[in-house]
Order: sequence, then C-alpha cells, then structure tokens
Amino acid sequence: MNDKKFYITTPIYYPSGKLHIGHAYCTVATDAMARYKRLQGCEVMFLTGTDEHGQKIEDKAKEARVTPQQFVDEIVSAPGGVLDLWKLMDISYDRFIRTTDDYHVQAIQKIFRKMYDNGDIYKGAYKGKYCKPCESFWTESQLKDGKCPDCGREVCDAQEEAYFFRASKYADRIRSLLLDTDFLEPKSRVHEMVNNFIDCEGGLQDLCVSRTSFTWGVPVDFDPGHVVYVWLDALFNYMTALGHENDRYDDLEKFWPADVHFVGKEIVRFHAIYWPAFLMSLDLPLPKKVYGHGWLMLDGGRMAKSKGNVVDPYMLAERYGVDTLRFFLLRTFPFGSDGNFSNELLIQTINVDLANDLGNLVSRTTAMAEKYFGGTLPAARCEAEADGELIALVTGLRERYEQQMEKFQFQNALEEIFKVIQRANKYIDENAPWVLAKDMQANGPRLACVLYDLLEAVRVCTVLLTPFMPGSCEKIFAQIGAEQDARTWDSAARWGALPAQVSVSKGENLFPRIDMEKELAELEKAVEQAKKALLPDVEVEPLCDAQVDFDTFCKSDLRAVKVKDCQRVKKSDKLLRFTLEDGTGTDRQILSGIAKWYEPEQLIGKTLVAIVNLPPRKMMGLESCGMLISAVHTEKGEEKLHLLIVDDAIPAGAKLC
Ligand code: MSP
Repeated sequence: MNDKKFYITTPIYYPSGKLHIGHAYCTVATDAMARYKRLQGCEVMFLTGTDEHGQKIEDKAKEARVTPQQFVDEIVSAPGGVLDLWKLMDISYDRFIRTTDDYHVQAIQKIFRKMYDNGDIYKGAYKGKYCKPCESFWTESQLKDGKCPDCGREVCDAQEEAYFFRASKYADRIRSLLLDTDFLEPKSRVHEMVNNFIDCEGGLQDLCVSRTSFTWGVPVDFDPGHVVYVWLDALFNYMTALGHENDRYDDLEKFWPADVHFVGKEIVRFHAIYWPAFLMSLDLPLPKKVYGHGWLMLDGGRMAKSKGNVVDPYMLAERYGVDTLRFFLLRTFPFGSDGNFSNELLIQTINVDLANDLGNLVSRTTAMAEKYFGGTLPAARCEAEADGELIALVTGLRERYEQQMEKFQFQNALEEIFKVIQRANKYIDENAPWVLAKDMQANGPRLACVLYDLLEAVRVCTVLLTPFMPGSCEKIFAQIGAEQDARTWDSAARWGALPAQVSVSKGENLFPRIDMEKELAELEKAVEQAKKALLPDVEVEPLCDAQVDFDTFCKSDLRAVKVKDCQRVKKSDKLLRFTLEDGTGTDRQILSGIAKWYEPEQLIGKTLVAIVNLPPRKMMGLESCGMLISAVHTEKGEEKLHLLIVDDAIPAGAKLC
C-alpha cells in the first residue's frame, strides 16, 4: 500500500447538447487512469463536471423556450443526460462539479475581485473577433483565413466595455514553464502554444475576462452588468471543487496541485497558458501536468455536436457492452494523437483482441480445468523448464505496463498485456493439454501445471486490465477463482497468488465473435437512425433579408388554377405534367418537379396556385407556362413539399393579391 495522493480531472463538459463518443473518450481515459492509481493504492480524487455558463447556453435556452438553468438541468440530470452517460460508462468519479453550484459561483466572485484588487484585472474596451460556439475572443492576427482558428467557423465583430486579465505580464514565466519543464505533454503541443500565442506578433495578449452582452454567467459583484468570462469561471472549477474560496469542501491541501488535467487538444491553450497565468496572479501552486489528448475523428473530421457527425455511445454500449467500448477507445487510438473512429475498426478490435485472444484464452483454460479436473486443480504439479519463459513474461508484465501507464500511453500498456495473452494462447498449443489428457495417470500432474500456469497468466492480465474493463474483469476473476488477495497490484507482480487447489468455473462467453459483414450493415442503419434523431423535427428556411419593392412584387401574376389532368412525364422521376384551367378558356400546361411527393391522380380536380407570367420554359422537350406554388420545409433532415391547395369555391383564374 502506498499513501500517495493522486488528483486527476477531465474538462468539465459544456452541456449544450447530448454528449457523444468523443466526449466519452476523454472521460474513459481519465477513469482508466484513476482506477489504475487506486489499484496501485493511491488515494485518488477524480473530478469531472459541467461548465454551464456562457452565451451559447443562453441562446440555446432561448431557442428551447426555457430558462438557462432549466436547460442545463435537463442535459445534466434527465434520463440520457450527462450523469446517466457516466453511470452507463462506469465512470468512477469522486466528485462532480457544476459551475452553477452556489459555492462555485461565490468562489469565482471572490477570485475575480482578488485579481482586480491586485491589479491583474483592469477595465478597458474590447474590440475584436468573437467565436460564439467556442466562446473565444480572437485578435485579427490569430484568425485562420478570417475564421476561428480552433473550429474554423465564422467569427463576428465584438466591441464592448470589458475587464481584462494582464496575461502579458506572465508571458516570460509561461514560456519557460512550457519550454523548460514537463508541464505540458505531449511535447509536440509545446511549440504550437509558444509560437502561436506567446512568441507571435504582438506577444501574449491580455485576455478579455468579462462580458456585458449577455447575462448567463457569474455576475461581477462590484460591477453589475458584467458577467465573468466563461473560461475564467470554468478553469477554477479544478480548485473550487476542492474547497478553494469556499467551505463546501476542504480537500484543497490534500489534493492540490492536481497531478494531471486531461484535456482535448483544442483547449490546451486555456489550460497551458491562461490557467497557469491566473494561478500565478494569485500566487497559487500550478498543476503538475496538462496532457492534451487527440480527437476522435469521423471520416477524417472532428466529431462534434455542432456538425451532427457524432456517434452515440448509448447505442454502442447497448450493442457491444460498456467494457468493450471502453477497451476499444483506449486500445485502438494512441491517446496523444487523433484517431479515426470506424465501425470496422471497432468490430475488428472486438474479434481480434477480445474474442480471439482474451476470450479464447479464458474460455479454453477454464473449460479444460472443468473437463479434465472437474473444476478443481490437484495440488500435485509437474513443472517443466519451458514454463520459465511464460512465468518471467507474466511477472515482468506489471513493470512494463506501469511504465506505459505513467506516460498515459494506454494503447502501449494494453499492447504489453496482449503480448502476454498471445503468448499464453501459444503455450496452450505448445503443451497440447488434450494430448496430455489422453493419459491422465502419467500426465495428470503436468496437465495440472499447464492449466495453473495459464490461470496465473490470465489472473495477472486481468488485474492489469481492470482499470479498462472493470465489469468484465470481475467476471473473469470469478471464473478463474481469484479471491481479493489475487486481484491486487502487489499480486500482479507475484507468481502463484492463486491457491494451489484453485477452483474454476467456465462461465458465460464474455466476448462473442461478431459477423463483420452483417454487423456493419446493421450498424450503418443504426447510425443513420441515431443521426436522424439528432436532426431537428421541422426546419424552415430563414426569412429573406433582402427586401422586394411593392411594384416588383405586384408584377407577379398569381392565379387560382384548376387541375384538369395530371400525368407523369415519361423518362423523368421528378416531373408531373399538369393541364390547367386558368380562366382564359384555353388550357395551360405547367411542368412541376413534385413527382416524389404526389401521385398524379390525387391532384385531378384540385384548385392550386400558379404564377402565370413567367416566361415559358422547356423541360424534357415539353413547354411549361408558369410555376405551381408550394410550401417546402425539412423534417428530420428530409425535404418535404406541399402544393398550395386552396378552397374549391375559388374559381379558376381568380387573381391572388
Ligand atoms: N467546457 C469546456 C472545458 C472546460 S474545462 C475547464 C469544453 N467542453 S466540451 O464539452 O466542449 O468538451 C469537453 C471535452 O471533450 C474537451 O476536452 C474536448 O476536447 C473533448 N472532445 C469533444 N469532442 C471530442 C472528440 N471528437 N474527440 C476527443 N475529444 C473530444 O471544452
């Protein structure tokens, strides 16, 4: 047991919509790290939460016709919300902070005032560019092709009276923090930060830390009308959640400074530049490390709520199980770099690593112990020299794994485990227990030894897999007869923690193989459905800004027309040919691209509206004299159209005005 403390955090999530698998990625990684540290015997504080202020939330709430507080409450606590997702994903956080919690709000007010009193926050006027979705201010020179350098979206002009934080004062200290220490990792992110934000033209700029154009934020208590910039508010969650400037908690001394903040690469700037600068301003200890992980991409682009290209973790967890999903995320993608999510990759990981390697090893070993020894191994053993290699590999695993876990290289740590699993599977083939079993009299002691070795290999791998797949590991422990003392960190570096006469039971197949082709087709369907569900129910085109003068409008001759006949146009999927009565006594022909929505017969006899003074146009060799008026909108992303069908009492030719 060691008495070390370990404080780890995830970014607090912005509850502007449902979380997706990209969000789950960081939290699963943090959870694996927290569980690993607990396994080592550390006292862990794992903090997560939600970052609930800012203009985007205010806007979204308005759109949804609820208060901002109701809006965030729903996303955080309602079924299918943030708390539910973390429960589903087996996230073992120790504390959950919401930035709308009173104790946090009051602490932020005190913090803001302290920085104002010490001269690091001053009043000025903000002029620049603002990216609404990112809640980020940018100077002209920071923009990329005139757009937000983080998300690539449009920015807008912004000018208002505002408070500023004197970040420029800390430029030198931050530069050396980044260049001369291991504060920020992976190292590849360091130069990007220094070059783009500190050693750029104009140097590190002071940061605008208050807003007056909206109200959903922590009010600056000494200057009504100003609310604290959401990033200042959010970053301090890492300390207020421990009791900084509040008496709700009192773990600050115990856990601060944090051992590591895990953050996505696009928010490294806030964590590696402004966060330490804020802390320097208040003379507070800096966190030991910020680790900027990569993004989970979809089709080569970042998975993001606003893009709608998200993958639903609920759907995947339901299909494959939570542990499988957790495992996939950390086994497949190197944590520090971007990774492209694909269904194929997911199924392949399940089939190769979980079904073929791990699942097979566990089920073959336990099945043979049941078959040849009724589930309980005899104490008598017969060791062979060849076992030494497997034993050495297994007992050295913990150290190799630890080296990778300490660097947050989850993929490599798992790779070390899977090398042992593959070796153990080979050991089965080399020793051919089914051949030994043919003469139990002579080979029984050797067979028992082979199976015991295998169980030990499974046990050690399972101990080290626990942070990644807690639920499944519990089941494997039960199957191989590992009691608590054979599940510990210590026991993972020790051979022989299972009792000599261990009893095993072949349980359910934990990781069934999946038929790739069939599954891909079904998944495709499910993903499409999930995507559709995210689309708005009904969407109409925004009103047109450009005005039309009255005289121009009056030039459009809109008339009621009666459908005398309606036919499909040959060789066209789209066109219907209408013969219409328009009050002139002569038939009018109009072609309309609405075959997708109407059967011709259902329109005969109806009274419609047409604009009749458009110049005639030829389509598919036929002349169209005018255009039928219809209403269009989208429903769940699908285009819908309704012809304007008016009262039959209106005579053909009546003018609409
Ligand atoms: N509220 C801020 C964090 C404040 S921390 C003081 C925020 N919230 S967020 O909800 O937009 O994002 C939360 C985390 O999810 C970020 O670290 C972000 O990088 C991560 N991810 C969002 N989409 C992601 C992927 N597609 N892939 C990996 N991580 C992703 O930022």
